[in-house]
Parts: sequence; structure tokens; C-alpha cells
Amino acid sequence: MAHNSFNVDQIRADFPVLTRETRSGVRLVYLDSTATSQKPQKVIQIMDNYYRNFNANIHRGIHTLAEESTQLYEEARHKIAKFVGVTNPRQIIFTRNTTESINLVAYSWGRANLKRDDLVVLTEMEHHSNLVPWQILAEQVGIRLEFITVTLDGLLDLESYRRLLGQNPKLVSFTHMSNVLGTINPVKEMIKMAHENGAVVLIDGAQSTPHFAVNIPDLDTDFYAFSAHKMCGPS
Ligand SMILES: Cc1ncc(COP(=O)(O)O)c(C=O)c1O
Repeated sequence: MAHNSFNVDQIRADFPVLTRETRSGVRLVYLDSTATSQKPQKVIQIMDNYYRNFNANIHRGIHTLAEESTQLYEEARHKIAKFVGVTNPRQIIFTRNTTESINLVAYSWGRANLKRDDLVVLTEMEHHSNLVPWQILAEQVGIRLEFITVTLDGLLDLESYRRLLGQNPKLVSFTHMSNVLGTINPVKEMIKMAHENGAVVLIDGAQSTPHFAVNIPDLDTDFYAFSAHKMCGPS
């Protein structure tokens, strides 16, 4: 019999919410971590400690609490940078989540650099978060949207991607790992192809960063969005 090293009881013990029952009196089993993960005791303690002992405006005060809060905040930026292999923490921009990050790219970089008839290439497997901001720019600015198709096996059709690159898109944006299919896309290869055609690349890492180690510089993407709240972190 295969040895199972995944100790469910030990892992459950890390998450206080798992001690409660559902409304119908059943022991809680939580299967919605891809939407948002539950928070382990350690994270809850650190959040609690912050509000009990620090709590001040970041970068906007010179009293003890403000300076200590700012230091903690910047230390978090360093840790997150290291987590995704980034050496310059200034390249880490805090937002609420993947949705807000993609919106930020669309409405800052997008509005400054995209004009009527410019092409943005997405895929048929995108989450709404990586679809709606571009649809809004299509409506407001007149950019064109095209989609890399998905094969019957649930993979991206790289032939359709090559054809779309031939139309010189300004931006290519796609998910690292599909929230519907679980497909892990060949992002490194796809980013290289986009850059060879002069396109800027934005990757939706909402499902990849919680599931496996991601080294962003190694991928060589221009933008990479992900969510702490899907990785045991706070909202
Ligand atoms: C692939 C993908 N992109 C974006 C999002 C949106 O993430 P958030 O709710 O953290 O903005 C999700 C959420 O499920 C997702 O699965």
C-alpha cells in the first residue's frame, strides 16, 4: 500500500475555521480554496498582533507606530519579492488582488499605450478578471480583441497563437494556470514568442502562485498578477 505522508488532521489543526460545522451540522470540509483560501492560525495571529501593537498609516507618519508599521509593510514587500524570485522589491506593487492588478495594468499602461484598432490577444480560457477590463477598453478606446483557441484536450492551440502574433498585437495576456481546466500553460515559451513579435505580456498568476513555485524573472514577463488571499494570506 502506498505510504500517505499527507497528514490531514495535522493540516486541519492549522485552520481554526475547520473546527466549526456547516449549518446542517456536518463537520466542515472546505473545497473553495481557489476562490479564497482559509487562513491558518499563524496568519491570524500576525494580523491580530499588527492591530494590537502597531497599526498606523504607512509612509505617512514619523511617530513610533507609523515608522514600525512602515518597516513591517516594506519587510512584507521584500518577502513577497523573494517568494517569486524578484531581486528588486520595488517591482512588487501591492493591490487588493489579481482583479485589481489586471485593472491597474489595463487602465494605466493600457490607456497610455493602446489606441483605436490596436490588437490585444487573450485566450478562450480566461477568468472574467482578465476579460472584462479589456472589453471595457474595447468599448471606450476601440481596441480589438482576439482569442487563442482551446483544443478539445483543454490546451491552448499554439498554432492559433502563432497566427494571431502575425497580426502584431500590442499586448498578449493569458492565465498561467486555468481556474476551470487546471491546464498549466507553456508560459515561458509563449512569452518568448510574444516578445519576438514586439508585444507586451501580462500573466494572470491567480491559480499558479498558490499551486507551485513561480520565478517571475525566469519567465521574463512584463507584468504578473497574483492574489495573497488565495495563498493563506489576508484579503
Ligand atoms: C485564473 C483567475 N484569475 C483571476 C481570478 C480573480 O482573483 P481575485 O478574486 O483574487 O481577484 C481568479 C479567481 O478565482 C482566477 O481563478
